[in-house]
Amino acid sequence: MKKVYLFAILFVTTFQHTVLSMSNETDSVYLFSYATDKNANKDGLHFAWSDDRKQWIPIGPEHSYLKCDYGTWGAEKNMFDPYLFQDNDGLWHCIWSVNDYDSVFAHAAADDLILWRRQSYPEAVPGKNCLMPEVVFNSTKQNYTITWLSVNDGDSLYYRASTEDFRKYTPAIGISSEDRLNMRTKVSVSGVLEEGTIHKVPKKFVDGLLRAHELTVSRNQLWSETTKDYPELFASLESVDATITVNGSESKPISDMLIGIFFEDINYAADGGLYGELIQNRGFEYSLSDKMGKDKSWNYFKAWQISGVGTVYSMDSVSPIHFNNKHYVVLNTSKAGGALVNEGFDGIPLKKGEKYNISLFARMVKGRNGNVRVRIVGSNDEVYGEVSIKKISGEWQKYSAVLTANTTVPNAKLEVIPQTTGCLALDMVSLFPQETFKGRKNGLRADLAQVIADIKPQFVRFPGGCVAHGDGIENIYHWKNTIGPLEARKPQRNIWNYHQSAGLGYFEYFQFCEDINAEPIPIVAAGVPCQNSSCGGAGQQGGIPMCKMQDYVQDVLDLIEWANGSTDTYWGKKRAEAGHPNSFNLKYIGVGNEDLITDIFEERFTMIYEALKEKYPEITVIGTVGPWFEGTDYREGWELANKLNIPMVDEHYYQSPGWFIYNQDFYDQYDRSKSKVYLGEYAAHLPGRPNNLETALAEASYLTALERNGDVVQMASYAPLLAKEGYTQWNPDLIYFNNTEVKPTVGYYVQKLYGLNSGNSYISNKVELSDDKVAVKKRVAVSVVRDSETNDLILKLVNMLAVDVNTTVNLDKVGAYSPLAVRTVLTGMPDEKMARPEIDSIEVSDHFLLTLPAMSFTVLRIKSK
Ligand code: AHR
Repeated sequence: MKKVYLFAILFVTTFQHTVLSMSNETDSVYLFSYATDKNANKDGLHFAWSDDRKQWIPIGPEHSYLKCDYGTWGAEKNMFDPYLFQDNDGLWHCIWSVNDYDSVFAHAAADDLILWRRQSYPEAVPGKNCLMPEVVFNSTKQNYTITWLSVNDGDSLYYRASTEDFRKYTPAIGISSEDRLNMRTKVSVSGVLEEGTIHKVPKKFVDGLLRAHELTVSRNQLWSETTKDYPELFASLESVDATITVNGSESKPISDMLIGIFFEDINYAADGGLYGELIQNRGFEYSLSDKMGKDKSWNYFKAWQISGVGTVYSMDSVSPIHFNNKHYVVLNTSKAGGALVNEGFDGIPLKKGEKYNISLFARMVKGRNGNVRVRIVGSNDEVYGEVSIKKISGEWQKYSAVLTANTTVPNAKLEVIPQTTGCLALDMVSLFPQETFKGRKNGLRADLAQVIADIKPQFVRFPGGCVAHGDGIENIYHWKNTIGPLEARKPQRNIWNYHQSAGLGYFEYFQFCEDINAEPIPIVAAGVPCQNSSCGGAGQQGGIPMCKMQDYVQDVLDLIEWANGSTDTYWGKKRAEAGHPNSFNLKYIGVGNEDLITDIFEERFTMIYEALKEKYPEITVIGTVGPWFEGTDYREGWELANKLNIPMVDEHYYQSPGWFIYNQDFYDQYDRSKSKVYLGEYAAHLPGRPNNLETALAEASYLTALERNGDVVQMASYAPLLAKEGYTQWNPDLIYFNNTEVKPTVGYYVQKLYGLNSGNSYISNKVELSDDKVAVKKRVAVSVVRDSETNDLILKLVNMLAVDVNTTVNLDKVGAYSPLAVRTVLTGMPDEKMARPEIDSIEVSDHFLLTLPAMSFTVLRIKSK
């Protein structure tokens, strides 16, 4: 991490009042800024105001105007002792303490105390921590002096440092407690004594704060509407009539790759999920650190045990097959009979008659020409398949065999049984079904991959999500660690607290994209880890040190060469060696994943972006604008995108169904001349996080708006994609599964209907309703597209009301079409999780009647003549 050290200067104080900002206006009032210790100090900056400095009126009553972004969600992101002040240009600054164990303080600035700019966390060395920071303006030097308290083993030490711009600081030097001005004041807010700073401001300034709060309250109320509120919201609504007029002569081109998928190894999506390998911890690389030491059973032997007698096992790392794969097991057999047993991922599912490839690396450490039997067995020792591996030599060698399962079971185990006495080292013990998706070696679980392919996604984003940037710089996903021979790949701790074998790596991702005819969208870290970083303790501000950034930039450039370069190039040759001499034809690369937009981010992102632009101008770089649809990262991310002319940015938001219903105009106002948008992560979240008809229809409604704005929004992917039952860190997901079943959700069918019915031009249309209340209008959403390949006209119609919408569709302006259209309807009760689309055909004409059932999504596909 590049440290921002504080540089020493002379400390010259200027006279200060306890009222920190003055206003000449006669209608001035007092503003008190403070934080409480509620919600573990996570509620951020609050305000109260007063006419007389006696009676304080809290705003909100505790509306949060600024929240701390330092460290991890849950454990950190705390604000202690905020200190607010206004500089000579009228800009407000707030500094605060983030915790009592890191030697940093936090800084942010805002013109209006509402829209705060990016935060920074200058290192306030040399103290152990940085508490109660304060600022005074030094008028002689025209700079600011910051002082703070550091408590170390009961000793209270005071320090000061100066800055002109809150970016560069002089080194800290010790001061005495008398040098502090102790500008904080205590006032009673709602009967509680709070400590903070008082400022004199124009009344209209406070009015602005009040308005911001009121706006938040009213929109939150709107956005929290769910179908449970319908009896009250729509008490008098009995029926709704609609007229939809499709104006075939007015159209605009829209993206032909709007619907794609977001793949991240979360919820056991890769190992134990989409990746076909059936052995858990095949490389003996699970480690306590995968789960931060919290699970003692999560070690090199996880999923392995010894059964029977005569054989004991130990772990070794003295002479590994490859330095990336350090650990291997050594079986010491005094009498043949004992077995090394793997339980798979909650059992190994087998299908009768199917062939499985067994492979393992073995070496006789002691003894000669050892033999082993490898069996797949049931819990009562039923043998479902068996092979022998003979004459194991004294050097590491890969041994392979094929086994046919004689039964279908969900939960077999694999046994490796030494047949000879001595010491046998084993590593990379693998059992792989031959029937993978498209029959690929080291491929994907066929049923799961097929359900994904059925969406007809036009792109695949990988490897995340937060997996892409990790939760500390050591945890950043490096694509080079995930290619080449499996035994040479570098496994790592998964940010979601388990293990990533890297068996499903960049080659497999690209191959999957090719197999399903989708554009690959790899996302690389922007040289910084997750905003939620827990490793290293300093949050995302700990980016890759600048002295190592050039190497990192080169890694990113090498990825393009690996994907697209000719076989004469260094990395292109590696791709060819892996079995793909032809280019993967990569067109896009994402740099960053919903990062905090800080100076540290900007410096590193810009380096990567400029290098990509210069060397590969044909590649579309996708930037990032934070994890929300608004707020500091969103604004600052967009500012950076505008400054650098980034061709596309990645937006993320997980919101309530109400948000999606009421924000269908979100992109209508976007400036068409600016960066295009990839909505990389979104989903409708209800309390309890189900994936049901209500969330699915909210997403379907919003997708009509994305189609309408398909000239700006180029791509969109629901997130996350996969979740294994019993191993789910995040809900809702699109597809749930266990070892033998795949369970698509209602939301999946919405994505699939959009994937199968996408178009590349948007046809203008007008929707008129018999009821013009906003709550009603927002719940009927329509989009009309045309697919140039088939020339079909496709209408998507969502009715999120609890009553049918009796619709007249006018097609007289669309040209000649076939009178029989295919209709697909997804409908049911709002909380239904098993609603499935039903298909029929209906007659259409220039003016025809169509009922949109209550709570439904209808797709009408009309053939042109
Ligand atoms: O989709 C799950 C997570 O949500 C992703 O990893 C992250 O980018 C987002 O916060």
